[in-house]
Amino acid sequence: MQFFLDTADLGDIRWAARAGLIDGVTTNPTLVAKVAGDADPRDMLREICAVVDGPVSAEVVGVRTEDMYAEGRELAKVADNIVVKIPMIEDGVVAVRQLAAEGIRVNVTLCFSAAQCLIAAKAGAAYVSPFIGRLDDVGHEGMDVIREARVIFDNYEIETQILAASIRHPRHVTDAAMIGADVATMPTDVLKKLLLHPLTDRGLDQFLNDWAKVATRAKGNA
Ligand code: E4P
Repeated sequence: MQFFLDTADLGDIRWAARAGLIDGVTTNPTLVAKVAGDADPRDMLREICAVVDGPVSAEVVGVRTEDMYAEGRELAKVADNIVVKIPMIEDGVVAVRQLAAEGIRVNVTLCFSAAQCLIAAKAGAAYVSPFIGRLDDVGHEGMDVIREARVIFDNYEIETQILAASIRHPRHVTDAAMIGADVATMPTDVLKKLLLHPLTDRGLDQFLNDWAKVATRAKGNA
């Protein structure tokens, strides 16, 4: 499974990339707005793309086919590793088809059902992004969408990658991996929670303390 970082925060992206923890990045207008300040979003994207050795999703903000198509083409020029993010709406599906026909990779975002994932895949999406956490938030079982999409894509040998999005906690990542999602995109705090465990820290402290006692005794006997 590939790990993507779901953020536009360059500091976090640099940290995760240097540690070799991530295979790509996803952004969205909300994530960009959180950190943009006065910066030009295109410049931010350019910097992110330079840091990340892998796909970087950048979202269009138009909602009509012609706007999404034009924006998608411009975004694709920012860097070779840009993946254009298009929302799962009817006009979006048409734009996906147009962009994909030109060889531009598209991530269809805001998917909340396996049927939406299938439609996006049929249009030529490179990735579909079911939003697990937001479904859980409204009392649904978000993971079911990943499970159903996996079966459907396998049934028809669809190569579109299932990108588990809106991840809220480490269990989401583990469950999505067990079901066979191709990618999990997660916020920095979830990535850190996956990496770290308090019992690891406690165990290491104990090992080092015990070893220090041995070393002290050995010194005393010398
Ligand atoms: C995915 O690409 C989206 O950016 C993201 O996962 C949305 O997650 P949220 O529900 O935490 O906003």
